[in-house]
Amino acid sequence: MINSSAQKTDAECFTVPQHTTIMGITMDDKVKDLMGSLGRGRGSLIPLLQRVQSEFGYLPRETVAAISDALVISESEVYGVATFYSEFKLKKPGEHTFKVCMGTSCYVSGGGTLLSQIIRRLGVRPGETTSDGKYSLDAVACLGCCSQSPTVVLDDVIHGNVTPSTLESMISELENGSEAL
Ligand code: FES
Repeated sequence: MINSSAQKTDAECFTVPQHTTIMGITMDDKVKDLMGSLGRGRGSLIPLLQRVQSEFGYLPRETVAAISDALVISESEVYGVATFYSEFKLKKPGEHTFKVCMGTSCYVSGGGTLLSQIIRRLGVRPGETTSDGKYSLDAVACLGCCSQSPTVVLDDVIHGNVTPSTLESMISELENGSEAL
């Protein structure tokens, strides 16, 4: 991950106190709710991290503490797993996230050009979020739809056979406040 000096540190981005209530629900309660029938212990850690990230879009620090309590494992172990796997995000993502496939098929079909286009147009590099919190960018491995290379994911919707022109349209629609394609 490429860090920007303009971005906040992980600690600064963790903004939801564990014991703060959100509509009367504490973070501990929320994590226990997400835990559902998962048992305690490290065997439930990855599925619980996935559920928490699905709920919040990332893993706020306070959820790490709440997960530690719920699974009865150390915070350092939770944090270690969360930082080891690239699927987990410890920083709040932008309002819109581009993921550009850099797998072999997409790369040779122009994925690198598309990635450069987003970097240039939005001023964001892979692994970063713009300072206004609007856009995040990730370069990702094969998405499993190589027949449609090059592929770009915008807000969890996969777009295939993307050209610089169609990418420009996607960006323009976002800049104009329209829904993504
Ligand atoms: S290489 Fe991009 S989808 Fe397979």
